[in-house]
Amino acid sequence: MAIRVKTTRRKVFEHEAPMRVVAVLGGELTEEGRWLDSELGGALARILKETRFKGDFGTTLYVPLAGVQVLLVGLGKRRGHRLGDVRRIGVKVAEVAVERGVREAAVENFLAERFGKRETSRVLAEGLLLGGYRFTKYQSEAKPPRARFVIAQGYGPVVEEAAAVAEGVWLARDLVNEPPNVLNPVELARRAEKMAREAGLEVRVLGPEEIQELGMGAYWAVAKGSANEPRFIELVYRPEEAPVRKLALVGKGLTFDTGGYSLKPPESMKTMKGDMAGAAAVIGAMKAIAALKPPVEVRAYVAAAENMISGHAYRVDDVIRAMNGKTIEVLNTDAEGRLTLADALAYASQQEPDAIVELSTLTGSCVVALGREVAGLFAADEALGREVQRAAEAAGEKVWPMPMEEAYKRKLKSKVADLANVGDRAGGAIQAALFLAEFADAPFVHLDIAGPGFAPAAEDHAFGPAGGTGFGVRTLVEWTLRQG
Ligand code: BES
Ligand code: MN
Ligand code: ZN
Repeated sequence: MAIRVKTTRRKVFEHEAPMRVVAVLGGELTEEGRWLDSELGGALARILKETRFKGDFGTTLYVPLAGVQVLLVGLGKRRGHRLGDVRRIGVKVAEVAVERGVREAAVENFLAERFGKRETSRVLAEGLLLGGYRFTKYQSEAKPPRARFVIAQGYGPVVEEAAAVAEGVWLARDLVNEPPNVLNPVELARRAEKMAREAGLEVRVLGPEEIQELGMGAYWAVAKGSANEPRFIELVYRPEEAPVRKLALVGKGLTFDTGGYSLKPPESMKTMKGDMAGAAAVIGAMKAIAALKPPVEVRAYVAAAENMISGHAYRVDDVIRAMNGKTIEVLNTDAEGRLTLADALAYASQQEPDAIVELSTLTGSCVVALGREVAGLFAADEALGREVQRAAEAAGEKVWPMPMEEAYKRKLKSKVADLANVGDRAGGAIQAALFLAEFADAPFVHLDIAGPGFAPAAEDHAFGPAGGTGFGVRTLVEWTLRQG
């Protein structure tokens, strides 16, 4: 992605660039805008008056003048902002610049007087980088975006941090956006290995024989129906000093989910290339973690597979055995994610981590409950749940706590095995979380990202275009950086 951000000590009017971006706050230009306006002979004030641009939060007014393009960005009312608003404004600015093919823009360091230059530079850079993302690989006519943003009166050192995070998000989005005929489990593992090699992470990849030898019978049951072999991926980041904590990240890695013999109807099958968004998030986060070097050990696990139909595929009524010895009756082959995750969680637990955070596009039920912008947070460990929730807030990713209602465990009772893989429709996302918790032998948090992991339309996504969102990368990175 040729989107770059840097900072300058100069003001917007002083930095020669084809586009200048200033705010409209409480209906008026800020100091940066007024300086630019006097340079432009009062043109902006006139246009503000004529167009009656109010500057509602997130709205923009494009003003092409002789020799320079100005973008006015509404910040809404004078009061009541949060730091995260600056990130969202950055996304808007990048979207306009990329759409108009602007090569360089000087951007006001929005709300710096309110939150401090350092913090606003960091989140603004993040927003600009996230908003400038496009996936144009398979569009012959489209040019990949190319733009440089220069934050006026900015604080330089934090921009590198923002870029590391954004590169993790870009990777996650790219992985989700790749079509499933290209990104099968083997290719997902190849890309994880490539990233690990470049970032200096340890990596281990297991194939069908090892998966079966390890006793991952639940994962294997899902995987064996596809002509594309499964790959179990483990990435390891070790800090230079002795780690203050050992963390495990687990991501659901279904590179495509047809539902299996409990086949999905056609409308529901669309977007199921995004059923590896959890895996993409943990791989993207590991890339950022390798660059930002938190003082903790972090291991990431992905049980990559494809849920297909064939003579080798698993059936309804099958009884399978997970790595931790528990037997599972398959009552619906479309509840496959929890089966692959059961073994990934059991495997992760063997390393005795201090905490496991797992992300998965697990249930349609969670999309019904919370919609497309909010992930469900299910905490088997309350303190860990609060940690992850606070990290998500700081990262500007929306999560909402859901109850791990023990009473619903009875719905997962099986007549022939230790557990059934589905219960009933009422509280489906909760039942799925309870199922997963049976396989995590460490403090455990599950994020159901079925809604925010993939944006069918751009309106569903506040930080970039339709498609893969990279949801979770920023929360995971923020969480690891807050340790120790
Ligand atoms: N990958 C789906 C969940 C999903 C649905 C993700 C919509 C993104 C958008 C998952 O494997 C699945 O099929 N879940 C079933 C569970 C049911 C069979 C208990 C579902 O939600 O219908
Ligand atoms: Mn499914
Ligand atoms: Zn699935």
